Amino acid sequence: MNNPFVQEIVKVVSRKTDLPPQQVEQLLEIPPDEKLGDYAFPCFSLAKKFKKAPDKIAAELASQIKTGNLFSEIKSVGGYINFFVDKVKLAELVLGQILKQDSNYGSDAIGKGKTIPIDYSSPNIAKPFGIGHLRSTVIGHSLKLLFEKLSYSVVGINHLGDWGTQFGKLVVAYKKWGKEILKQDSVTELYNLYTKFHEEAEKNPALEEEARLEFQKLEKGDKENRELWEKFRKISLDEFKRIYKILEIEFEAYAGESFYENMIEQTVQELQEKKLTQISQDALVVNLDQFNLPPCLIKKKDESTLYATRDITAAIYRYKTYNFYKNLYVVGNSQRLHFQQVFTVVKLMGYNWADNCIHVDFGWVKFEEEILSSRKGNIILLEDVLDKSINLAGQIIEEKNPELENKKGVAEEVGIGAVVFAYLARRRNKDFDFVWEEVLNFEGETGPYLQYTHARLCSLQKKYEKKIEDRADFSLLKGKEEISLIKILEDFPRTIQRALDGYEPAVLSNYLVRLASTFNTYYQNIKIITEEEEKTRAKMLLVKSAQVVLKEGLRLLGLKAPEQM
Ligand code: ARG
Repeated sequence: MNNPFVQEIVKVVSRKTDLPPQQVEQLLEIPPDEKLGDYAFPCFSLAKKFKKAPDKIAAELASQIKTGNLFSEIKSVGGYINFFVDKVKLAELVLGQILKQDSNYGSDAIGKGKTIPIDYSSPNIAKPFGIGHLRSTVIGHSLKLLFEKLSYSVVGINHLGDWGTQFGKLVVAYKKWGKEILKQDSVTELYNLYTKFHEEAEKNPALEEEARLEFQKLEKGDKENRELWEKFRKISLDEFKRIYKILEIEFEAYAGESFYENMIEQTVQELQEKKLTQISQDALVVNLDQFNLPPCLIKKKDESTLYATRDITAAIYRYKTYNFYKNLYVVGNSQRLHFQQVFTVVKLMGYNWADNCIHVDFGWVKFEEEILSSRKGNIILLEDVLDKSINLAGQIIEEKNPELENKKGVAEEVGIGAVVFAYLARRRNKDFDFVWEEVLNFEGETGPYLQYTHARLCSLQKKYEKKIEDRADFSLLKGKEEISLIKILEDFPRTIQRALDGYEPAVLSNYLVRLASTFNTYYQNIKIITEEEEKTRAKMLLVKSAQVVLKEGLRLLGLKAPEQM
């Protein structure tokens, strides 16, 4: 990411101090107070080398470095060299670049040739798409878009929960009550079947054993059970795909747990050949005492494999298939132990790429009680939540702008955007409460607020009518908010990088809120389109740039940016 100011500082400072350029860049700070400049270089670590006090070093260096045409002032304060960027130059560079590159602004080739599989969403077959899988879905999707922005090739993998003992339960339930419950082959009916099993098993625990045997039969290839399993899988998958369509999310691969069925034996063999397994309570396990972890279960005593066995196999498969640069799993933090075990076992197998496997974990979302949809047990359906949000957004739009064209389409974009943004606005490890009033508040730190600001930026451009050139007299953009805005826009490429460094879309969400609120303050304080032609032209360049960046930022979070609202 080529910020000419940083480049220049790095070049000069490393020449004067003999520090390697990367180190200068790492040390460089953005001061919290603009009185201390736009960038500051701390000289404390140089004291030893130069055998001088840091403030002396800073003073000497500051007097030796010329301001050139990029900086308006360079001076030392304490042990820092403070660099003041020339604001006209800054505006010219940043706005010029945004208008030239449009939605490509912030893109980078850094990821070219590197592949990153992202395992996300991954719901379980035979259950409806509940709200419980939304956080993984939206974080995974946004990370995918962000990595793609930097030219990584991303493989979105849906690791469906489509294998395991629960299918034994379903088969039992189907054979006993299928006729009365499964009428239209819907996921809801499948779920009822599953619930029925649990109710009955409480009264009659022998059913559990029956289920275990049915799953064993399925794993051994029994034809009838196999067909049933395929039927259940198809019903669920059709439903999931319908939901993904609403969210406009696509996966490169639906390789669920069952996908690894034929490769699992090989994993087990390899583990045994490498002498990593032992028998414990009749089960095959990998002992992980030396890592302070409980043993990783590979095979139960009835020979059936486990969630972990399939994840170990999947990791090996992904490495062979994609030769990944990083391998991500966007899964809740309740599975932290599972992934620690899986990665540790893979490492013990001698695969050093285990270090590039990353559990991108996240906390809980608590929903307002009243939306607990009682009609399907205690699962809150994602679709119900989206529908409610679209409805509420529709009502607000009806109040605010009854004349709006395509009200229905906009309500959809705003309603879905509100939910998605609420899930991306917090750091992923934070638990949070989902509260409707907050989520849809057009004035809060919400999706609708960002979309509304975007629509405002669009309508200004419409009102201006003239074509927005990429040249103007930038010295006319000298107001406090104008400069803040330009600096925020300048920070967009680094924001993307920071979001990816921490696998944290919230970094981008927070950035967009800052961008929008800075613009809105500006908008409240200043009339943008006036009689002063030159000045209006410069301001419109800023408006257009802010709109381009806001729109692209929303896209990277998975939100639409309607032009009117
Ligand atoms: N289906 C699992 C669940 O709902 C998530 C799967 C995550 N991915 C993985 N490779 N284990 O809890």
